[in-house]
Amino acid sequence: MKAKIAKSLLLFSFILITLYSCTLKQHKSNEQSSIEIENKIDSILSLLTLKEKVDMCHAQSKFSTKGVGRLGIPEIWMSDGPHGVRAEIQWDSWGYAEWTNDSITAFPALTCLAASFNPQLSGDYGFSVGEEARYREKDVLLGPGVNLYRTPLNGRNFEYLGEDPFLASTMVVPYIKGVQKNGVAACVKHFALNNQEHWRSSVSVEVSDRALHEMYLPAFKASVEEAKVWSIMGAYNKFRGQYTTHHKLLTNTILKGDWKFDGVVISDWSSAHSTKESALYGLDLEMGTGTDGLGTTTSNHYDHYFLANPFYKAIQNGELSEDLVDEKVRRILRLMYRTSLNKNKPAGKINSKDHHQVARNVATEGIVLLKNENNFFPIQDKQNITIAVIGENATRPMTPGGGSSELKPEFEISPLEGLKKRYKNATIIHSMGYETGPSTYDLILPATLNQDSLRIAALETAKKADIILFVGGLNKSHLQDCEGDDRQSYKLPYKQEKLIADLKNINSNLGMLLVTGNAVDTSWLSNVKGLIQTWYLGSMAGYAIADIVSGDVNPSGKLPFSFPKKLTDNSAHSFGETSYPGINHQQEYKEDILVGYRWHDTKNIDPAYPFGFGLSYTNFKLYDIESDKNGYSKNDEIIIRSKVANSGDSYGAEVIQVYIGKENSKVQRALKELKGFQKVYLKKGEEQEVSIKIDIKKLAFYNEDIADWEIETGDYFVYVGNSSKNISKKIGIRIN
Ligand code: BGC
Repeated sequence: MKAKIAKSLLLFSFILITLYSCTLKQHKSNEQSSIEIENKIDSILSLLTLKEKVDMCHAQSKFSTKGVGRLGIPEIWMSDGPHGVRAEIQWDSWGYAEWTNDSITAFPALTCLAASFNPQLSGDYGFSVGEEARYREKDVLLGPGVNLYRTPLNGRNFEYLGEDPFLASTMVVPYIKGVQKNGVAACVKHFALNNQEHWRSSVSVEVSDRALHEMYLPAFKASVEEAKVWSIMGAYNKFRGQYTTHHKLLTNTILKGDWKFDGVVISDWSSAHSTKESALYGLDLEMGTGTDGLGTTTSNHYDHYFLANPFYKAIQNGELSEDLVDEKVRRILRLMYRTSLNKNKPAGKINSKDHHQVARNVATEGIVLLKNENNFFPIQDKQNITIAVIGENATRPMTPGGGSSELKPEFEISPLEGLKKRYKNATIIHSMGYETGPSTYDLILPATLNQDSLRIAALETAKKADIILFVGGLNKSHLQDCEGDDRQSYKLPYKQEKLIADLKNINSNLGMLLVTGNAVDTSWLSNVKGLIQTWYLGSMAGYAIADIVSGDVNPSGKLPFSFPKKLTDNSAHSFGETSYPGINHQQEYKEDILVGYRWHDTKNIDPAYPFGFGLSYTNFKLYDIESDKNGYSKNDEIIIRSKVANSGDSYGAEVIQVYIGKENSKVQRALKELKGFQKVYLKKGEEQEVSIKIDIKKLAFYNEDIADWEIETGDYFVYVGNSSKNISKKIGIRIN
């Protein structure tokens, strides 16, 4: 027996040593290959002419850059991003190329991914969308977007990861790693402070260093330092008077200096404004919408870009040093070795079953059940019941529109189609209720049908039903959830409030599916018994919605942003125009670090729905919650343990959320900030202990006096719960 144990131990040690030396070898060979690549880049640089180098720093078409044929240097091909690979655009105009082989899987918009609170799923999402990009021969996928959710009016919030920097950072890292495993560069965007679409090309943001570092930069920082992202996109707006795409502080000092970013800074399309600043302040690759980089068309327009002929001339006449172009080309070549020149890159694939499954999983895990009076949901599939599905959003495709993230999926299952496929016994009837014009960029196209007739028809349909499901919300049209400008009102558009009230008068057995990427005013809430936030879900939308509505899948999504009761309850809107949208294109983020739930909590302003909130069809209990110690040193880690039990009737998942706040700080602090979370999957009657680790360094604040992070000693409170408002236990701890 003893001999057997000794033998096993020996074998075990042998395996360990082999594994260790393999990892070491792998590490060494990675190091070596990166040295080899840098050497190759040096030799390529010495062979390139100045003209060839400059030509590599700007677009040659809408989504590609020039290669150097004589040296075998490839072109770079890019595509939007971030929820799927966009259809092919024409060489030199924004029209679609009308290919027949560029239909793809549309994944749920990133707000939905954030709402899943499931980083592993984010990795699957990134890997799958990366595979699709690889198959479509893209070297750079223009996403993910991580601008912070500051105002519910921002037309592009649906593309981002919510209002909390910790959540956004935690979710973005696996996404990027997943994409890049395919030899496709993720391009995290828009760096930085592009937190509104209104005036996006001209507004100059003033924000404190502290809010910049604590709120607006963390997701970018995690993308660079943890995910090692290979490219980053500048933004349109200015920060403290300077355009962010070529910004001395943001790009040179912070991104390339402090964070040691070794990838490529790509402009947003026509976000560069000066040759000198582009050359000096970190822009590597200039892409554009129009043509001289500013939006007007001339012939050979790509030659007129700031990093094209003007750059070449400035180097030739000695105004700018050639080292500047060498540095940019070095980064561009490095990107090529990571992508197109990577010999081990896989082939990729599109529209596969597993991609559809990932899209469906993200959708079902991200959908949020907000209200469920008398267990309105799930709706049983019973004979002799009629469900009236009312609303344009029940059938309207949501992948067209919205701006650059618009997609051409192989298919998009609408909510109505999904419900009809799922409900075999119940009768499903439908009526639009209202109609809006097709979603077109920068333009509102009028509806073509008679709105009064649509409304009357919907009310007639509702009268025939036992249950009404209103599918409403926003859409991807201009001034809704769409790039280029912001929403004009916090209210539901298209007279939906009135329609909801009328439907309720017909039959109060009324539930709603809210299709948005943003919070909306919910003053109509008392008219509906059930409310589900469904986001923009892409190809598998209808199936995922039917999964949740029917109870085949138990909802487990949590809101990645707060729903204020009224717009002025949101911090960006509490200080008048100076703070949003700015006055004369100047804007000050007066709420400072108090974004989203930090504001609601600290100022005691009740939201309609808090950050982190989401119901389930089962019940969870959090108990025996404790910290591993009472006192910690600055190098410690806090371990929070909690038991979670599923005390209801069905399988489900709960997100345990840990927030921490500092008492009596020397600076203004939010009452609490999210510092850890874990999603737990439990069968009926099952319980589990979770332990969530928090590095004390995560409690640091950015001290403007020393321009660095500082961990304050003293008393803190740890809040453990299942939303930012619903706290099961508050624990006092001390940092010495
Ligand atoms: C958007 C970017 C997008 C680019 C290319 C810009 O208008 O802001 O996010 O990647 O266009 O389509």
